[in-house]
Amino acid sequence: MSFKDKIVKEKVPQHVAIIMDGNGRWAKKHGKQRYEGHYQGVESVRKITEAAAEIGVKYLTLYAFSTENWRRPKEEVDALMHLFVQTIEKELPTLNKNNIRLRAIGDIESLPEENIKRLKETIAKTEKNNKMDLILALSYSGRWEIVDAVRKIMKDREKGLIKPEDIDEKVFARYLNTAGIPDPELLIRTSGELRISNYLLWQIAYTELYVTKKLWPDFGKEDFYKAIVDFQNRERRFGMTGEQIKGS
Ligand code: IPE
Ligand code: IPE
Ligand code: MG
Repeated sequence: MSFKDKIVKEKVPQHVAIIMDGNGRWAKKHGKQRYEGHYQGVESVRKITEAAAEIGVKYLTLYAFSTENWRRPKEEVDALMHLFVQTIEKELPTLNKNNIRLRAIGDIESLPEENIKRLKETIAKTEKNNKMDLILALSYSGRWEIVDAVRKIMKDREKGLIKPEDIDEKVFARYLNTAGIPDPELLIRTSGELRISNYLLWQIAYTELYVTKKLWPDFGKEDFYKAIVDFQNRERRFGMTGEQIKGS
């Protein structure tokens, strides 16, 4: 029996976030260059996007490039940037065919000009799609996003649009890149690393974590469905007792 058949339709998470890790190790294992691992990783992006849309996930957020990834060797950064432009352009028809809306979070303005242009074009051309939002975290980090939110709040304060006593968690979240997007219920990390690597720090306060040893290029649809089934068997307590949860 496939894991897909074990998924309870009514309990599919609305928002799944993924740290796509292990492309480099995959390449090494196969005697290839690191960039070849990234190219293979795009295949997994394609498969997992399809898998998520198929079971009714509404938001899929993929960590594609972190603020810290700028510290990698220039050749690798260049290869990744080239890959992003190429992929975004190539995938436009598929996104539209599958009714998927592309979005991005992160310091987009720090990307090469060509990337910004292609990204904005594709975002605009898929804007009306409403089956699922595919959110790419590009030049993203949780701390960057929180600092960015504080900066925006201070600007609004200068304009007299907000007062300190107006700020609560809901108001603060509206200043994040993910404004309007529900927090992820599930965070998947591939390649076995047990860390968050500056991903969605605010949003994952109560997210269920799932780590698999599979490297991202080896992560397929069944692996994704397996993670969903695992998630569905958890008891999410949000600080309450198990008895309270069962009673409600
Ligand atoms: C994840 O794979 C992709 C990016 C960070 C862009 P890695 O490139 O981090 O692969 P490993 O961790 O070196 O195996
Ligand atoms: C996290 O992976 C970032 C992305 C997947 C884009 P890294 O491979 O950069 O994370 P660390 O540095 O090993 O924690
Ligand atoms: Mg890595």
